[in-house]
Amino acid sequence: MKIIIAEDYDELSVRAASFIIDTVKRKPDATLGLATGTTPLGLYQLLIQDHNRNGTSYKQVRCVNLDEYKGLSSTHNQSYAYFMRKNLFEHLDIDLNNAYIENGMAEDGQAECERYDKLLERFPRDLQLLGLGSNGHIAFNEPNTPFDSTTHIVDLTESTIKDNSRLFANIAEVPKQAYTMGLKSIMQARKILMLASGANKADAVYKMVKCKTGENLPASILQRHKDCTLIIDKEAAGGLINQ
Ligand code: GLP
Repeated sequence: MKIIIAEDYDELSVRAASFIIDTVKRKPDATLGLATGTTPLGLYQLLIQDHNRNGTSYKQVRCVNLDEYKGLSSTHNQSYAYFMRKNLFEHLDIDLNNAYIENGMAEDGQAECERYDKLLERFPRDLQLLGLGSNGHIAFNEPNTPFDSTTHIVDLTESTIKDNSRLFANIAEVPKQAYTMGLKSIMQARKILMLASGANKADAVYKMVKCKTGENLPASILQRHKDCTLIIDKEAAGGLINQ
């Protein structure tokens, strides 16, 4: 795992943006695995800025998202589909038909997971972007998710519901379940770029990098990936720096 410690969130975003822009310039029809959350927001702003200023084009790019709340429609303002459109896709020249995400309203959950797995097989990801949950989750793979998991429905943990409630009107509105790409599928991406910012991620970052790989900390699986870069700011690196 290659680790880059940025001075602050702004530097983290700049470094992450060049990583993605380079990928798209080298391969204009790249498939990008994208993530939601507050961490990639700075990076997404910079992709938009670069697209406007330098014309980097996403016309042939395909995007596959990690996860979606179960029970939220793509027009719900807390759905991840909505988040991606508002914070990125609407500002780029990407063809929305090439942007995929699980359907939170699917009637048959199992069939939806199978549909998404087929899609992931059809479009192997050149780069997978990841954020980190404070409990070490990646996408919505909570602690003790099997390492060989594919797309599945998750019961969200109390800590994730609490973390994510900051974006909802109140905690009762946070869905209790979600669809997520599995750990095996995440590991199939050719390259992985993980971002973590802030002191509340320091413990998970430390364990992900230093502790023995184990299903109790989903992100620790990344130690086994051949081409994984971790960009963290100083606060998130606190455990590593002060050890
Ligand atoms: C959520 C998402 C993850 C995200 C993580 C961190 O639960 N499912 O994909 O990486 O939380 O979010 P944030 O970047 O807001 O800290």
